Amino acid sequence: MNVSRADFPKGFQFGAATSSYQIEGHGFGGAGQTHWDSFAATPGNVVRAENGAVACDHYHRMPQDLDLLAAANFDVYRFSTSWARVLPEGRGAVNPEGLDFYDRLVDGLLERGLKPAATLYHWELPSPLADLGGWRNRDIAGWFADFTEVIMGRIGDRVWSTATINEPWCVAWLSHFLGLHAPGLRDIRAAARAMHHVLLAHGRAIETMRGMGLTNLGAVCNFEYAAPADASPAAATAAARYDAIYNRWFLSGMFKGEYPAEALEGLMPHMPTGWQDDMPTIGAKVDWAGLNYYTRKLIGPDAGPWPACAEVPGPLPKTEMGWEIYPEGLHAFLTRTHAEYTRGLPLYITENGMANADVLVNGAVPDQARIDYLDAHLAQVRRAIAEGVPVAGYFVWSLLDNYEWSLGYEKRFGLIHVDFETLRRTPKASYHALARALAR
Ligand code: FCB
Repeated sequence: MNVSRADFPKGFQFGAATSSYQIEGHGFGGAGQTHWDSFAATPGNVVRAENGAVACDHYHRMPQDLDLLAAANFDVYRFSTSWARVLPEGRGAVNPEGLDFYDRLVDGLLERGLKPAATLYHWELPSPLADLGGWRNRDIAGWFADFTEVIMGRIGDRVWSTATINEPWCVAWLSHFLGLHAPGLRDIRAAARAMHHVLLAHGRAIETMRGMGLTNLGAVCNFEYAAPADASPAAATAAARYDAIYNRWFLSGMFKGEYPAEALEGLMPHMPTGWQDDMPTIGAKVDWAGLNYYTRKLIGPDAGPWPACAEVPGPLPKTEMGWEIYPEGLHAFLTRTHAEYTRGLPLYITENGMANADVLVNGAVPDQARIDYLDAHLAQVRRAIAEGVPVAGYFVWSLLDNYEWSLGYEKRFGLIHVDFETLRRTPKASYHALARALAR
């Protein structure tokens, strides 16, 4: 790699990220059914109808995976806690095995000198709550606060940081408007409600954790740089609308107590009654903000109904996801988030990485493309830091090849290759390069 630990301020945290459903093996340890299980079992939703029942079998191989994490010289590990593993019905009876698992995980990290960075929710909603309307139902804020209390009551004394909900845009828009993630809805009323309730749940979880005396609490949003597809005013308007829905809605809600006008213009008729009264809860004070960043999109006008945005194929080199590689977008979001929303709070890049067509050749995986991707994005992080943006850490997505949601096991994002037949782990060239760059 071109960059190394020495190029970053003292105390800058390097980590790797994963999520529960994508690696643990949800069929193990008494976890309850989730909306991803039924979404995956419905033809047409997921490549080969694959699900997270086995995934990387991290549930049983956790000590080995933590050893690999430590050997890469990381400082911190971002993992998520599965609601359905802890509360199989979403509410009520606790699964003791589930709590024990996260307890062992946190202790295992601390024993290896790694900081545990928890994310409370990374998408596997318990099915009984999905039956009640899931994110469309305002009651989810209370259910989520209750889950927060249960899981943090067990591990909150030892975690280094806690984020509430991974990528509210994916939870709400991708899953209720675009229909590409569970529960697979394509309905503007459902989407408007989810867009609001996901933030209300975030606020209630923050309040709950504050009440428990916990510190270093944050929010993690995802960002996609929205560039107008051409120089026309129509493309500029469409890109601004896309940016409002994707990139500004959640930050505006949390840090300004309002939603962007370009998004409300379409969503207002579908918002839940009295939503304005929830803004103080949504604005509950956080200690840091996390940005997940992968790509940009070229946006032009579309003939259809609101939001009337069309994605136009771009000219830049692409990853296996078909996503353009645009490191400058990361710099743009770091500077904008700091200047317009978080104003001095520490920022973390909580996810960044690429899917690559990795192949195992004689026990090695030569993924130079991933090394280049990470280098280019870390250079943009350095640029933002040099300009005074308080960036405090960077997490690679992901530690392991894993269940990439609707794309099943086909897309490999890991620093470590996983053979999904044998579950054997093989560190890739990028893993070794990072380990050298991060040596203390
Ligand atoms: C993010 C998700 C993560 C993974 C990466 C590629 O949107 O948080 O689970 O799917 O994208």
